[in-house]
Amino acid sequence: MSRSLLRKKEELLEEIRREVEQCTLCPLAKSRTQTVFGEGNPDALIMFIGEAPGEDEDRSGRPFVGKAGQLLTKILLSVGIQREEVYIANMVKCRPPGNRTPTLEEVEACFPYLEAQIAIVNPSVIVTLGSVSTGYLLGTKEPMSKLRGQWFDWRGGKRIFPMFHPSFLLRHESRAPGSPKYLTWQDIQEVKRVYDLLRESTRRV
Ligand code: URA
Ligand code: URA
Repeated sequence: MSRSLLRKKEELLEEIRREVEQCTLCPLAKSRTQTVFGEGNPDALIMFIGEAPGEDEDRSGRPFVGKAGQLLTKILLSVGIQREEVYIANMVKCRPPGNRTPTLEEVEACFPYLEAQIAIVNPSVIVTLGSVSTGYLLGTKEPMSKLRGQWFDWRGGKRIFPMFHPSFLLRHESRAPGSPKYLTWQDIQEVKRVYDLLRESTRRV
């Protein structure tokens, strides 16, 4: 990636960020402290997509910085992936009151922003974290226990790999074989395996 193309991606993302900051398309605009756009490498090979900002994210304006976020960071580091290498975003850019699950209307209103982020960053792999992003992007109501750890083709050319949401892991502490934490450890190693192959076969970091 040339410097000028990277600069262009940064500029395009900033344009969308400014639009998101002004957004009033759904009721979450009224209760937010600030929007949480997403962050990371504008040219990332992998994008992680969570659900919605929580309290810490609403306060800081950054995705995945609270307890769940710290666990995500640890999961990435366990296979040697730095947060800055990847791109991290959410389905919904504003915190739902009391951290309730975003409604379908809220997800739909916000989706064009995520679509723009995906189009600009153009990752090869999208890791969906938890059932909201997984279910919406794959158009399925199957439970995470059935979907996680598998590759799905998405919109011709990209691949989606669902993983458990780190908040779910915080509620299930066991590391025994077959437990959500155990399976997530396997899943992130599969992500790393494919990430390494992608890095070998492309000029991208
Ligand atoms: N949970 C999410 O889904 N996203 C965040 O940014 C934080 C917690
Ligand atoms: N249910 C969810 O919503 N997310 C998970 O990660 C697992 C079960």
